[in-house]
Amino acid sequence: MFTVISILLALCSSSLCGTAQNVRSIPKHILLGAASSAFQVEGAWNIDGKTESIADHLVHSQKCYAKDCSNADVAANSYYMYKRDVEMLRELGVDFYRFSLSWTRILPTGFPDKVNEAGVQYYSNLIDELLKYKIQPVVTIFHWDLPQKLQQLGGWTNPHIVNWYGDFARVAFSLFGDRVKYWITINEPHQLCHYGYGSPYIPPAMNLTGEADYLCSKNVLLAHARGYHIYDKEFRLWQEGMIFITINAEWFEPESEHDYEAAIDANQFWWGLYTHPILSRSGDYPEIVKHRIAVMSTKQGLLRSRLPELSSEEINYIRGTTDILGLNHYTSYLAYRNASTEEYYGNITGPSFDADCGAMNYQPGDWQIGETNATMYAPWGFYKLLTFIRFEYDNIPVFITENGFGNSGALIDDDRVLYYRGYLSAMLDAICDGSHIVGYTTWSLMDSFEWPNGYSIRIGLYQVDYNNTSLPRTPRKSAYVYKEIIRSRTLDMNYEPDMTIPLSVDNSTSNRLTHI
Ligand SMILES: *[C@@H]1O[C@H](CO)[C@@H](O)[C@H](O)[C@H]1NC(C)=O
Ligand SMILES: *[C@@H]1O[C@H](CO)[C@@H](O)[C@H](O)[C@H]1NC(C)=O
Ligand SMILES: *[C@@H]1O[C@H](CO)[C@@H](O)[C@H](O)[C@H]1NC(C)=O
Ligand SMILES: *[C@@H]1O[C@H](CO)[C@@H](O)[C@H](O)[C@H]1NC(C)=O
Ligand SMILES: *[C@@H]1O[C@H](CO)[C@@H](O)[C@H](O)[C@H]1NC(C)=O
Repeated sequence: MFTVISILLALCSSSLCGTAQNVRSIPKHILLGAASSAFQVEGAWNIDGKTESIADHLVHSQKCYAKDCSNADVAANSYYMYKRDVEMLRELGVDFYRFSLSWTRILPTGFPDKVNEAGVQYYSNLIDELLKYKIQPVVTIFHWDLPQKLQQLGGWTNPHIVNWYGDFARVAFSLFGDRVKYWITINEPHQLCHYGYGSPYIPPAMNLTGEADYLCSKNVLLAHARGYHIYDKEFRLWQEGMIFITINAEWFEPESEHDYEAAIDANQFWWGLYTHPILSRSGDYPEIVKHRIAVMSTKQGLLRSRLPELSSEEINYIRGTTDILGLNHYTSYLAYRNASTEEYYGNITGPSFDADCGAMNYQPGDWQIGETNATMYAPWGFYKLLTFIRFEYDNIPVFITENGFGNSGALIDDDRVLYYRGYLSAMLDAICDGSHIVGYTTWSLMDSFEWPNGYSIRIGLYQVDYNNTSLPRTPRKSAYVYKEIIRSRTLDMNYEPDMTIPLSVDNSTSNRLTHI
């Protein structure tokens, strides 16, 4: 035993482990890829039978929903340019591409009564094009663009959505499951519910905090579980893929030694609300979240908690329904709670997610790298998050399904390069300590419609020139750096690419078809 451990330690210290090293190897089993989502890149919003999603509806009904008053009617035009997108993935040499299905492109009524052949053909072509070049499709079934029709019926606040989502997921498995082996049920439940139903920031911008968001939370958990059970019972045996949820978890760090409770509460409210019911042994929402919302609800004179409870049957239906954990992470926050916090939240009389959580958070200015504060740099928070998950959830395998950096879009994006190196290094630190990481995904392959930021924040490895109707894509410095990371399976902090050489397809790296 002793020898095995010392050999492992010796292996580690020479390559992968040791933060001080400028060159670190990345374990070969870790899949490296890039991501996008349907609404943010496809365009063709009403083409070939596609109907209106809540995202289309929002950008059309509130012309300046996005800061730059833009919409995603054309976006990066990936509906027509998917072959170029796959060529970009081949230039990078990625193992996989994570993209999402537009519900209304496949089911124009929102229901499975009518399957739109043209929409099915689009995704089928994209999947075939990826597999032709041995790139694994990693498919998100739902990435926020709900059919507007279903929103008129209440969307994620209506418990019937568990059936509606399940029906859509079944259609997706039947159509594409022969070729797709990695399924993500739902993207970022907290952002979907909190920003979509509790705030005005993402579609449907319902803005009913402390009420609609919690109805959404319960229905999202049950819908995810429905998707999982359908795959498990009806498809897994012959399709032999895996299915998981993607949860966004930003890390809340106590501002001082007095703020541990505030930080724990913030982490539990922002993402424990979803990880705990699915990953913990006991299931159900975190106790502290149930408790705080129940207390506030009683104070407000309500007869029951604004967080609808999960029955023991529902708890069991949700618990354990993910093969691995999909994890999105971008940044961290400092959390605190003091007398003036209590007073501030005490002044809010109506339902409020923030008041329920009761913690304040902020990001110190010196976490800013580059010219914008769109993504604040705190890679140590990524390490802490991965470490927390390792201890809290029995070292469940984690697939990092998004990580990325927003700025104003220059081709020489040294801030983004610094960010990726810092975050990959933090991930390697966690791996050295024993965290089980199976994949890493950059967000995003290309510039895309970044919700309330429109196109004002750029986050792609490839720049998209929206001023040119051909929407040409140009690799940024970060694309060159990521390509070298993938090619060499090495994180070299000092590597400087030669950007005078066009980024091209390298056949020696593009002939892999790797599995977890
Ligand atoms: C969202 O609701 C709050 C009240 O909770 C209100 O003050 C705010 O103006 C609303 N925002 C939008 C964009 O409707
Ligand atoms: C709470 O409300 C009172 C009365 O309106 C006000 O004087 C006080 O400044 C508020 N406190 C905070 C922290 O906002
Ligand atoms: C980022 O900058 C904007 C504009 O200066 C400011 O309003 C915002 O509070 C800043 N955000 C953070 C997290 O510091
Ligand atoms: C496009 O035009 C806008 C406004 O004139 C400009 O700010 C931007 O830098 C241009 N280029 C790209 C690649 O978007
Ligand atoms: C627009 O993009 C196309 C394709 O990359 C290119 O050939 C053309 O020169 C560009 N036009 C302008 C005005 O930059």
